[in-house]
Amino acid sequence: MAGKVLVVANWKMNPPTFREAKKLFEEERKAAEKARGVNVIVAPPAIFLRELSGMYRGSKIAFAVQNAHFEAGGAHTGEISLAQAKDARARYVIVGHAERRSEGETDDDTRKKVAVALALKMTPILCVGESARTGSGEQFEVVRGQLHAGLEDVSASALIKVLVVYEPLWTIGAKTTMNPRDMHQMAIFMRKCVVDSHGEAGRSLKILYGGSVDEKNVGAMLEDGDVRGFLVGRASVNAIEFTKLLQAIESSS
Ligand code: PGA
Repeated sequence: MAGKVLVVANWKMNPPTFREAKKLFEEERKAAEKARGVNVIVAPPAIFLRELSGMYRGSKIAFAVQNAHFEAGGAHTGEISLAQAKDARARYVIVGHAERRSEGETDDDTRKKVAVALALKMTPILCVGESARTGSGEQFEVVRGQLHAGLEDVSASALIKVLVVYEPLWTIGAKTTMNPRDMHQMAIFMRKCVVDSHGEAGRSLKILYGGSVDEKNVGAMLEDGDVRGFLVGRASVNAIEFTKLLQAIESSS
């Protein structure tokens, strides 16, 4: 595979205390430093971000927020802005995660968040994917619509600064992951959608896969899935599993 494999560690609403977060981060830092072919982006709960990023001196790990508001400020109780996230040293922001979409994040929100992130020189990690598969192929139309909306305000030359994750809701927190060949087919489709909307620049769209990624399935996905990396939930909040995951990527990339 050309270039390093990107691993986004989406801790979600874990762990319960900063003490545990610090310990988890320290273990993941060690694992990341040994995995030469991998770049790691840690997305901790926002409340832990500033302290974790302030402790870290290396360049192997970058930080993300799991969500942020597109407005610069104002009456949005409970929200944080992208500028505040950046000020706490987040260089990336996850946009449109399936769990947030199911709590009301709209396509239009994703469009605004992607645009504001780019304007702040942050990298949006735009998540797309259908909620369920019925066998009639409607996942393609869902993904086309989400890509269209999320990338609507992105110029062709700025596409390079966006990461797109295909992460269907039905593979998140599931027992099995997606078949790499299906992922490959989806990656081809996603590039085609973006070529249709943005021209040739769409061919180099950076695509990651998410949904029940672990040390056992990551090798096959790298081999046949046509992806540059992964968005990892459960396996990223267990230091042993995360270490094994990075080792598995190292030995197959
Ligand atoms: P999972 O979560 O790896 O636990 O399936 C992935 C995600 O939702 O980012």
